[in-house]
Amino acid sequence: MNSNKNCHNQLIKIFPNFSESISLKNLFLNQNLRKLGTHLRPFVYANFITSLDGRISLVHSKIKDHVVPETIANKRDWRLFQELATQADGILVSGRYMRQLAKNTAQDGFPVSTKSSYQDLIKWRISQGLSPQPAIIIISSSLDFTLSEKLLNSDRSIYVAIGSNGNLEKIRRFEEKGIRIIIAGSNIQVEGRQLITALGQARMSTIYMAAGSQVFHTLIKDHQIDRLYLTHALKLLGGTHFDTLLSGDQLALPAEFKLHALYYDKKSSENEINQLFAIYDRCS
Ligand SMILES: NC(=O)c1ccc[n+]([C@@H]2O[C@H](COP(=O)([O-])OP(=O)(O)OC[C@H]3O[C@@H](n4cnc5c(N)ncnc54)[C@H](OP(=O)(O)O)[C@@H]3O)[C@@H](O)[C@H]2O)c1
Repeated sequence: MNSNKNCHNQLIKIFPNFSESISLKNLFLNQNLRKLGTHLRPFVYANFITSLDGRISLVHSKIKDHVVPETIANKRDWRLFQELATQADGILVSGRYMRQLAKNTAQDGFPVSTKSSYQDLIKWRISQGLSPQPAIIIISSSLDFTLSEKLLNSDRSIYVAIGSNGNLEKIRRFEEKGIRIIIAGSNIQVEGRQLITALGQARMSTIYMAAGSQVFHTLIKDHQIDRLYLTHALKLLGGTHFDTLLSGDQLALPAEFKLHALYYDKKSSENEINQLFAIYDRCS
């Protein structure tokens, strides 16, 4: 492992084959996720960073809202997050995230980031014959969010997914702005299987779940998550108001996973953290 912080780009691969030096850059891009899905059966993957005590979010002392804990969010994990988004036809986000974006309390805008350090990823999409940015699919039952002019004027496709009892007036207002509506659910809530089938019919074959524990539950309970990318930040955080990666009703059958790969990212400077990048595949 290179201990020089200026060239620190290496990880230790622990599983399946041990290797002392693997490059962080393009680690997830090289997984070729686009080969794993079809329009008939899209490949659906989720990604979280969690503390050792299972926190994916904590209440921020100033913002007074749940956000990814600042003490675990880090650039190296963020690079991999962007690489996952790069391979997606569509990215699932929540209505709540849209409200956070409007208040400027969300972690960042939508991936793929247009910052200079991620330009290689946008170029990669174009080289694959893809649009520069994946579509955004907003899952909401309240439809209680607005879309910024910047997003509406971008060339990104935008979908809103809702159950069949969604508010018709709000749906009409979104449609007038050119947003595509997906009805996926027999009541007001979106149902996982119907959602993924509809996105496949919309010609999507790789779908990235970038929302939180409720959307994850919606998909897990309908057996729609194929792979989980989980960054274990090796820190204990505590705190009494937090989210874990799955919320909602207890699953009738636990969702079982197997280890696909595991990497150790050892910190080489004070502003980095020790973390494990784990990849889990859903057992069929
Ligand atoms: N550490 C990490 O890697 C990570 C990753 C993602 C998120 N997070 C954190 O997790 C917390 C929650 O994230 P989040 O709000 O984006 O995600 P979420 O908890 O999955 O989504 C909540 C919102 O999504 C909508 N929703 C969820 N399931 C639905 C369904 N089946 N049908 C219709 N609408 C549904 C609802 O929106 P409406 O209220 O509009 O109806 C609901 O309020 C945040 O603090 C976030 O920072 C952490």
